[in-house]
Amino acid sequence: MIAQTGHIECPPIQPRNRLVMIKRLSLPLPRRAVIALILLITACSSDTGDAPPPADPDAPILIAHRGASAYAPEHSAEAYELAIEQGADYIEPDLQITKDGVLIALHDLTLTRTTNVRNIFPARSQRERGGELRDVWDANDYTLEEIQQLDAGSWFDDAFAGTTVLTLSEVIELVRGRAGLFIETKAPEIYGERGFDMETLLLEALARHGLDEPGADPDTPVVIQSFSAASLRILREEHQTRLPLALLIEEETAQWLTPEGLAEAAEFVNGIGPDQSLLLDDQGIVDLAHELGLTVVPWTFSDDDPGEFETVGREMAYYMYEMGVDGVITNNPDLYPRRPPQDIP
Ligand code: G3P
Ligand code: CA
Repeated sequence: MIAQTGHIECPPIQPRNRLVMIKRLSLPLPRRAVIALILLITACSSDTGDAPPPADPDAPILIAHRGASAYAPEHSAEAYELAIEQGADYIEPDLQITKDGVLIALHDLTLTRTTNVRNIFPARSQRERGGELRDVWDANDYTLEEIQQLDAGSWFDDAFAGTTVLTLSEVIELVRGRAGLFIETKAPEIYGERGFDMETLLLEALARHGLDEPGADPDTPVVIQSFSAASLRILREEHQTRLPLALLIEEETAQWLTPEGLAEAAEFVNGIGPDQSLLLDDQGIVDLAHELGLTVVPWTFSDDDPGEFETVGREMAYYMYEMGVDGVITNNPDLYPRRPPQDIP
């Protein structure tokens, strides 16, 4: 059987690729029926391989936001290692591009927040910030060799002094066989204006590692996500990638969560990643997305802001077991509730 996703033909789910399938199909029956349908429709998005099952196979997937970033510097080897130790199904690298065209794991366009670049290199460009021209230290103004001289750990805690910025290839090698990759293309349009093609660079990197097809390594499933619908359309329509894609949605782009927006999204992505608060505002969104064959993985759950909930564990449990989301993106993988709400710390 061939399933259609975003007009791309996807292979059927292989028997070994069962982790997410088991998790989702073990949910209560009405939800199970909906999600079974989603899995049939979005077969490409469900290749999570034969990694060891989590403590509770009923639970939605656990995605470690920038690694276990509550406890170690975001996107550091330490944060990714800890996330895997804490049972993450996926780690979540954000992508930026160096001056010499290498994909690195970094959230911001600039190096200033998470490295000591100000102390090591002078600013190489000025850009408009808050209405004024200011010195900036954009990653894209520095070569990989320069960026790898920077301390990317001390800003978080002296205990992490000397941690370096990782390339995407290094991240892949680090997690390979132990977790999946939920990769985000950051600011692809800005890089496009600067002469870089983030989508091509990403697919080339994945191909070099043999990860550019769903199920290529069942122990290391790959999902690509972005706030840029244009970037995802390029991946699906121009590059014809069959990898699962997810559209990130924030308040400014909440039109994607209307019935019309979701129907349009379903034409080119397998899932949505809304800011978690948007789902609290309208809890019908999850069911509607599921009816359209879209998985729903909200962000970001963090113990420093559990919102109206007593703890982030209870907050995630509400989304997982009451709202029925398919996964959660969290800074605290260790607080992920592997059981429904009772007894969650
Ligand atoms: O995975 C979604 C989440 O990472 C999006 O927000 O800004 O942390 O990349 P941000
Ligand atoms: Ca991200």
